[in-house]
Amino acid sequence: MSTHDRNRGDDTTIRPPVIAIDGPSGSGKGTIARKIAARLDWNFLDSGALYRLVAFSALHDAVRLDDVQTLAWVAAGLEIRFVLDATHADGVRVLLHGEDVSEDIRSEAVGEVASHVAAYPAVRDALIDLQRSFLKLPGLVADGRDMGTEVFAFAALKLFLTASVEERAQRRHKQLKDKGMSVSLAGLLEGMKARDERDQTRATSPLRPAEDALVIDCTEMSIEQVLERVLEEARARNLA
Ligand code: DC
Repeated sequence: MSTHDRNRGDDTTIRPPVIAIDGPSGSGKGTIARKIAARLDWNFLDSGALYRLVAFSALHDAVRLDDVQTLAWVAAGLEIRFVLDATHADGVRVLLHGEDVSEDIRSEAVGEVASHVAAYPAVRDALIDLQRSFLKLPGLVADGRDMGTEVFAFAALKLFLTASVEERAQRRHKQLKDKGMSVSLAGLLEGMKARDERDQTRATSPLRPAEDALVIDCTEMSIEQVLERVLEEARARNLA
C-alpha cells in the first residue's frame, strides 16, 4: 500500500500523514517523537499529557477516581494549549484553562492517577476528538499508547519503542533527579511495573504494538541511534 493510499480515510478524504509512536513510559518515545516532529517541522501530540491533565483536574477538584461519569465530563471539558518553549525541559508548556501546569502534570502521583483514569472507556472516548484535532498539515507525530492501534490506525509509519523496565526506571530516575526531584529508584521500578501491567491488561485500547508496527528495543541504543533508525524508516516511506 502506498503512503498516498494509507492517508486516505474510508470516506476517501486525504489526510495529512501521521507517524504514530507508542510504547511504555520511559522508553524514550516522548523524546524521540519531539525530535522527529522538530526535524520534519510537523505538529506534535503528547497524548499522555491529556490523560495526565484529566488526572490533575480530578485531583485538583477532588473527583473520586471511581466516578467515571464526572471523569469523562472533565475529559470532555479540557481547555488546553501546548505552547512551544525552548527554555523548558520538555520544549513545550502545557496550559490548562490558561494556567501553566507543565510541572504539576509530570509528577509520579499524577502519572499514577492518569494510568487509572485511562482505563475507563468513557474517558478515552471523550479524548478521541481532541487528539484527532492535532492532525494538521504538513503532518503529525503522535506519541502515546494507542496512537497506531486506535486513534491514528491509518498512520503511514507506526513505531513501538520499548526497553527493559530496569533501564526505563533508571532513565526516569535520572530525568527526575535532573529536575531536582528526589525519588527512590526501587519505588520507581515498582511503580513502573504496576503501571505497565495496568496499561497492558486493561480491556479498552491496551498498550500493545499495532500489527503493522515496527518494534524497536531501545535498551542498548542511544537517543541518536533511535532517532536515525526512525528517520530511516520515515525516508523509506517518503515522509522525510
Ligand atoms: O505517556 P505518559 O506516561 O505521560 O502517560 C500517562 C498515562 O496515560 C499512562 O499510564 C497511560 C495513559 N495513556 C494512555 O492510556 N493512552 C495514551 N495514548 C497515552 C497515555
